[in-house]
Amino acid sequence: MMDSPTQHVVDVLILGAGAAGLTVALSLPKSLQVAILTKDPSGGSTRWAQGGVAAVIDDQDSIESHVEDTLVAGAGLCHRDVVEAVVTDARESIDWLVEQGVAFTMADQSYHLTQEGGHSHRRILHAADATGWAIQDALDRRAADANNIRFYHNFIAVDLCVERSRGARGRRTNGCYVLNKETGEVDTFRARAVVLATGGASKVYKYTSNPDGASGDGIAMAWRAGCRVANLEFNQFHPTCLFHPDAKSFLISEAVRGEGGLLKLPDGTRFMPGFDPRGELAPRDIVARAIDHEMKRIGADHLYLDITHRDPDFVRAHFPTIYQKLLELGIDITRDWIPVVPAAHYTCGGVLVDLNGETDLQGLYAVGEVSSTGLHGANRMASNSLLECIVFGRSAAAHMTSDLPSIDSMEPPPMWDASQVTDSDEDVIIAHNWAEIRRFMWDYVGIVRTDKRLRRALNRAQLLAREIHDFYANYRVTAPLIELRNLVVVAELIVRSALKREESRGLHYTLDHPDLSKHPADTILIPGRDS
Ligand code: FAD
Ligand code: SIN
Repeated sequence: MMDSPTQHVVDVLILGAGAAGLTVALSLPKSLQVAILTKDPSGGSTRWAQGGVAAVIDDQDSIESHVEDTLVAGAGLCHRDVVEAVVTDARESIDWLVEQGVAFTMADQSYHLTQEGGHSHRRILHAADATGWAIQDALDRRAADANNIRFYHNFIAVDLCVERSRGARGRRTNGCYVLNKETGEVDTFRARAVVLATGGASKVYKYTSNPDGASGDGIAMAWRAGCRVANLEFNQFHPTCLFHPDAKSFLISEAVRGEGGLLKLPDGTRFMPGFDPRGELAPRDIVARAIDHEMKRIGADHLYLDITHRDPDFVRAHFPTIYQKLLELGIDITRDWIPVVPAAHYTCGGVLVDLNGETDLQGLYAVGEVSSTGLHGANRMASNSLLECIVFGRSAAAHMTSDLPSIDSMEPPPMWDASQVTDSDEDVIIAHNWAEIRRFMWDYVGIVRTDKRLRRALNRAQLLAREIHDFYANYRVTAPLIELRNLVVVAELIVRSALKREESRGLHYTLDHPDLSKHPADTILIPGRDS
C-alpha cells in the first residue's frame, strides 16, 4: 500500500510500542500491514519495569493460588473469569516472550523466581532488576525485522476518526489524526482496526514513577470518541520511589522487599508489622498508606528502606541497576539505607474492554495499562500488568485476525482542517496548567481523600478544561498541548470516579466514607451522561 505525504493507509494502526502494542503487532499475521506509532522514541513505562512478570512456574505453586492472591489484592472488584483466563494463560505468555528472545534470570536450570507484595508464593520471573528493558529490547528487535510492521517514531495521536457503521454498535473507527512532530503537520492514518496501547496516566500526579509520556492520551481519546471508562479512581501509589533531589521518578523495586528489605523510620524502628501481619510484603495500598501515615505523623518528607543485612554480593547480583544508579548518587545500598517515598505508579482503571480487548467503538481495541479488563479490580497485584499486556495483546490480535476479513470498505476519514487556527504566542500557559493539574491531583486526589478535597479538585479541573479547550480551538496543535488536553480530561474522570465511590476500597481511601460497601461494583463512566 502507498503512503501519500499526509494520508497513510494500513490494515492495523497501533498507538504505542510498549509491551502491549508490540505484542499485538508481533501476533498479527504477516499478511497485514501494521503501523506502530510512538510519540517519543524514548518509550513508555515498559522499559522501566524492574520486578518482573508473574506466572505459576514452581511445583509448590498453583493457578488457584495466583487467582486467589489477585482477587484478594483487587478487594472484591476483580472479575473472576478474567483473572482465571489471564493466570491460566501466563505460562504460554512466558513461553511466547522467551521465543521472542527475552532472557529471564535462571537458577539451577530453571527460572529464578522472586517474591513481591500480595503473592503467597515466589512466582515473579525477572531479568535481574531490568525486566522491562529485556522485554522492550527483545520485542523491538523482532518488530524491526518484520516486513509488515513499520514504526513511526515522534508521531503523536490527536484524536480517533469515527464513522457510522451498520454493525451493532452503530459507529466504528476508520483511523486516527496524528501530529508528525518533525513536520508539524497533522497526518491522517486510515485503518481497518486501531489499537490503543498508549499506557497509563500517572503523570497526572506531581510525584510519579512513570516516564513523562504517561499522560493518559488513549483514555482521553477513547472517551472523546464515545467509549466508556471504568474504575479510574484506583490509581496505584508505589510505596518505594527514591527520594533524592537529583533523581526524578526512580523506582526501588518491590522485589527489594521481596528479598528481605525492611521499611524503617529515621530512628531505625520498623513500622509495617504494626499495620499488617504481612509486614513489608502486604499489598501496595496498605504499605503506601502506612508510609504516608508515618511521614505525616512524624513530619518527615521520606522514610527508609534497608537491605544492608543481606550479603552484598547477593544484593549487587540481584539488583544491579538499582545498585549502580544509587551508587552514582552517593548511596551504597549494601551499606546505606535508601530514602523512599510513595509515588503514583499505575492506572488500574481505563477504557472498558472485553476479553478480546474490544472497546465500545467497533474496530477500536485497547490493550495494556490504557485498558480496564477486570483483572486488577481495586488494586493491581505486583507484576500482573506486564502479564496482562502479553495475554491481552495476543487475544486482541487473534480477534482482529478473524474479524478484519469481514470488514467492508470504509470511507476515508476527512483530512485535518487547520485553516482556522494560528500559532500560539502563549506557550507558558501550557507549562503552568500542567503543573497546576499535577499539584491539585497530588494534594486533593492522592493516597488519602475527602469529599471536600475531591469537589475542590473537580472545580479546578472543570475550570482548566474550559481554558484548555479554548486554547485547543484557536491555536495550532503541538505535542505539549495534545498531552495537556488529555491530562485534564483524565484528571476530571479520576475525580468524578472518586466522587462516585462512597466507600473505602483498595486504592481508594476516603476519610468521609471509611467503611466498605456491602455491594462491590465497578465505577463506570458513560460519555454524555457523566461529562
Ligand atoms: P507503555 O509501555 O507505557 O507504552 C506506551 C506507548 O504509547 C509508548 O510507546 C508511547 O510513546 C506511546 N504513546 C502514548 N501516547 C501516545 C500518543 N498520543 N500517540 C502515539 N503514541 C503514544 N509492571 C509489571 O508487571 N512488573 C514490573 O516489574 C513493573 N515495574 C514497573 C516499574 C516502573 C518504574 C513503572 C513505571 C511501571 C512498572 N510496571 C511493572 C508497570 C508496567 O511497566 C506497565 O503497566 C506496562 O509496561 C505498560 O505497558 P503498555 O504497553 O501498556 O504502555
Ligand atoms: C516493582 O518492581 O516494584 C514494580 C512491580 C510492578 O509494578 O508490578
